Amino acid sequence: RLLIIDFGSQVTQLIARRLRELNVYCEIHPFNKVDDAFLRAFAPKAVIFSGGPASVFAEGAPMPPAGVFEMGVPILGICYGQQVMMHCLGGKVERGHGTAEFGRAYVTPTEARLPILDGWFADGREQVWMSHGDHVSAIAPGFEVYGTSPNAPFAITADPARRFYAVQFHPEVHHTPRGAKLYENFVKLAGFKGDWTMGAYREEAIRKIREQVGDQKVICGLSGGVDSSVAAVLIHEAIGDQLTCVFVDHGLLRLGEAEQVVTMFRDHYNMPLIHADESDLFLGALEGVSDPEVKRKTIGRLFIEVFEKHAKSVGGATFLAQGTLYPDVIESVSFSGGPSVTIKSHHNVGGLPEKMGMKLVEPLRELFKDEVRALGRELGLPDAFIGRHPFPGPGLAIRCPGEITREKLDILRRADAVYIDQIRKHGLYDEIWQAFAAILPMRTVGVMGDGRTYDYALALRAVTSVDGMTADYYPFTHDFLGETATRIINEVQGVNRVFYDCTSKPPGTIELE
Ligand code: XMP
Repeated sequence: RLLIIDFGSQVTQLIARRLRELNVYCEIHPFNKVDDAFLRAFAPKAVIFSGGPASVFAEGAPMPPAGVFEMGVPILGICYGQQVMMHCLGGKVERGHGTAEFGRAYVTPTEARLPILDGWFADGREQVWMSHGDHVSAIAPGFEVYGTSPNAPFAITADPARRFYAVQFHPEVHHTPRGAKLYENFVKLAGFKGDWTMGAYREEAIRKIREQVGDQKVICGLSGGVDSSVAAVLIHEAIGDQLTCVFVDHGLLRLGEAEQVVTMFRDHYNMPLIHADESDLFLGALEGVSDPEVKRKTIGRLFIEVFEKHAKSVGGATFLAQGTLYPDVIESVSFSGGPSVTIKSHHNVGGLPEKMGMKLVEPLRELFKDEVRALGRELGLPDAFIGRHPFPGPGLAIRCPGEITREKLDILRRADAVYIDQIRKHGLYDEIWQAFAAILPMRTVGVMGDGRTYDYALALRAVTSVDGMTADYYPFTHDFLGETATRIINEVQGVNRVFYDCTSKPPGTIELE
């Protein structure tokens, strides 16, 4: 197995993902948990140092344990991982001073050839994605330069005798188009056969769940979305009826959603399921709240209260299971002690109160959405279900910027249903990662049937994405947009204006809050 030492990059999980795509088993561990004893016990066949936001000059800068360089295994350092490798092995790193580089860059090869670059430089240069302030200014003894870019004269460096490789750019991101090839060459060189599969992941996940839970009872927060459903089915497979699912209707669900979920799990899957109608509780607590973080934290707190209540009602569940995915983790908290920045508190992560009477079971915590879907297929969930667009735990609350009212939610529900119906009718549902309507905190003036209206404005959102980390808006035709706006305004009372959101992520996020 391969060890990724995490120095806090926002994209560390993409490295793991690239490796899983190559059918290589890997684990990510934060730098501050990896010491020499850990290394001996883990016995990695290869190690990757991730990027990270720190500077090697900072006091207490994250460092790998010294022993990692003595293990005789191949090491690949990425961005901060390169800088730290040079710093530890006798090279030099300098602060930015006008040489910071963010975004697309082109690396050209030097005279020397390097096996992990096989398949690169077919066009005489290679596009890569840079994101660094500091840079290496002198390489460590034993290293040579294999590629340079205008602002990173040591873009690719290596000591082939020791099998240490270090690059300044990020080969794991989409914008380094041949980055996957670099990982492929690296794992081959490290002796991996590429025989690990999603089936193996399932087995491994089941083993870990059993080990974690023992004979205790678990309740699983089921939202009806793909993530929590896959988590529930996986955990049910691991521990059977030690699991009870709790479907919380917080009054922030879409049209008809509660019935669909209950039918599917209770009737189709025959799983123990509690349908908790708590809309008064949630909507009451959200009254007058318009700050997005307060909303998220309120919802998170109430979810836990409801779960704790039901944990008692099933005879003392000590574990709470959730379908938390990696993008939820990385955008919410500094992951496992890593220093990434908080973007928003996803309810099933950052919104959790400090003190919760239950321990968490989160078997999907390392996966991206499309991997969860693959796991869902592996577990035999129906395709129509697996293909559903993601729906966030806080539900319509984060699609209703400003104050939430029952009237607004009702309008939003009906408008969203028309919008999704339009998308399905035009055969676009599967091309889109996620589409939804949001109700804006404003009323505008219109004229309908010779009368003046003063009604809500809606924003329609639709994005394409592979993992939810980055996204682009979906390019609907003008005809489609016009037809949809007309249908919504005609069919949903209370709306007299419709906008289409053309923001990508970044700089926007997918949800409005
Ligand atoms: P953002 O808005 O952060 O969303 O770009 C990325 C993906 O995550 C979903 N999302 C959530 N899922 N709890 C969830 O379970 C949350 O609090 C949450 N917030 C956002 C969002 O729908 C998108 O698919």
